[in-house]
Amino acid sequence: MAILDKFSGLAARYEQLKASGGDPFSIQFDDIISSVEGVVKGKRTLLFGTNNYLGLTFDPISMERSIDAIRKHGTGTTGSRIANGSYREHEKLERELADFYGHEHCMVFSTGYQANLAMISTLVGKDDHLIIDADSHASIYDASRLGHAPVVRFRHNNPEDLAKRLARLKDQPGEKLIVVEGIYSMLGDTAPLKEFVDVKREFGAYLMVDEAHSMGVLGQRGRGLAEREGVEEDVDFVVGTFSKSLASVGGFCVSSVEGFDILRLAARPYMFTASLPPAIIASTLSALETLRNEPQRRAKLRANSRRFYNGLKDAGFTVGPEANPIVAVILNDPAVATMFWKRLVDEGMYLNLALPPATPNSSAFLRSSVSAAHTEEHIDFAIALMTRVGREFGILPEAPEYSNVTPFPRVSAERLSARAATAPARRRAADVGAGMA
Ligand SMILES: Cc1ncc(COP(=O)(O)O)c(C=O)c1O
Repeated sequence: MAILDKFSGLAARYEQLKASGGDPFSIQFDDIISSVEGVVKGKRTLLFGTNNYLGLTFDPISMERSIDAIRKHGTGTTGSRIANGSYREHEKLERELADFYGHEHCMVFSTGYQANLAMISTLVGKDDHLIIDADSHASIYDASRLGHAPVVRFRHNNPEDLAKRLARLKDQPGEKLIVVEGIYSMLGDTAPLKEFVDVKREFGAYLMVDEAHSMGVLGQRGRGLAEREGVEEDVDFVVGTFSKSLASVGGFCVSSVEGFDILRLAARPYMFTASLPPAIIASTLSALETLRNEPQRRAKLRANSRRFYNGLKDAGFTVGPEANPIVAVILNDPAVATMFWKRLVDEGMYLNLALPPATPNSSAFLRSSVSAAHTEEHIDFAIALMTRVGREFGILPEAPEYSNVTPFPRVSAERLSARAATAPARRRAADVGAGMA
């Protein structure tokens, strides 16, 4: 028995996945040309598999400020803030974020993952209760393991189930912390936040909202779902990340709960890891400024999201429940989804392949994310390509006149392989590079 033998099942499944058409876990970009274009295997490729919602990864001002910060303050901090000290810029970023959200306090972390790990594992202890949505992001689940609070899961986006579970805990001592997300990262659905707030109030619980995918996307000022739903006053802790709309890396939590700063001496994923480097802080501050000053980016993102979502829906695909920047095309059969994904990558469109068991309801789907930097041409190209491949694979009906109907025949992997092998070469001739020029 060798140390890695326990992964033999996983390794076998991975080999099977690779044999069935592609390897979504080790795709490599030869080059990244812009926020929405890259090069994969020498081919110019449209990027629909990032979280670059505002299209700021190549923002010239952010890049300049990052370079400048390196010149002034060096490449890294080489240590944690409690052991090795904070730079003024860490505090500036915290002040700016607190101000943006209208909260008293803010802590920044080296990743969004660590923000969840730190906050959730520390806020509730062994005598408290942590109550999480069943479809929570891995960082929320991992936080629940790192902390000592008993964990209760409620059905995804189900306020009645949440209320039922809190009712069971009613007579138990300790604080209760409910954790939900703004936009869920797999299917792009939003939490029914108003209803959750009613439940939170009824049971006197605390509420944390992870706005990782909704910051910069939802709300008049881009603060996220709580802003859009008008319930910010009832959200005790907002967690977010810099790795999506803000186009860098890092995470944060803002709150007005009194005594918040003591967490700096209690939250291990804050205390025992190196702090954000100057270049990252500089570009994050710059992107936050853009997020605040350029609401037109959010409007463009919303228009792009609707165009892509409605285009795929009208073509007959089964899509996620809401027209948000995360658009999922549900294909159910993992082998079909893998071949579909590979075909799109071969034709110049990169998106994410989501396979069970890491998916809601163990379904298989293609997950795309739309950016404000996509043009209408990019979006129309992607819809046309996916529709063509969908028809070719027998997932969509052949005739365009039926394209508003949503029949969803399940296609076996064998039938699909046979169809793909005999697909006319002319269908592969269209080069996305030409389409994007
Ligand atoms: C809901 C949610 N929370 C937290 C994170 C972690 O953020 P990061 O990747 O910036 O560490 C993610 C990442 O995708 C996420 O989807």
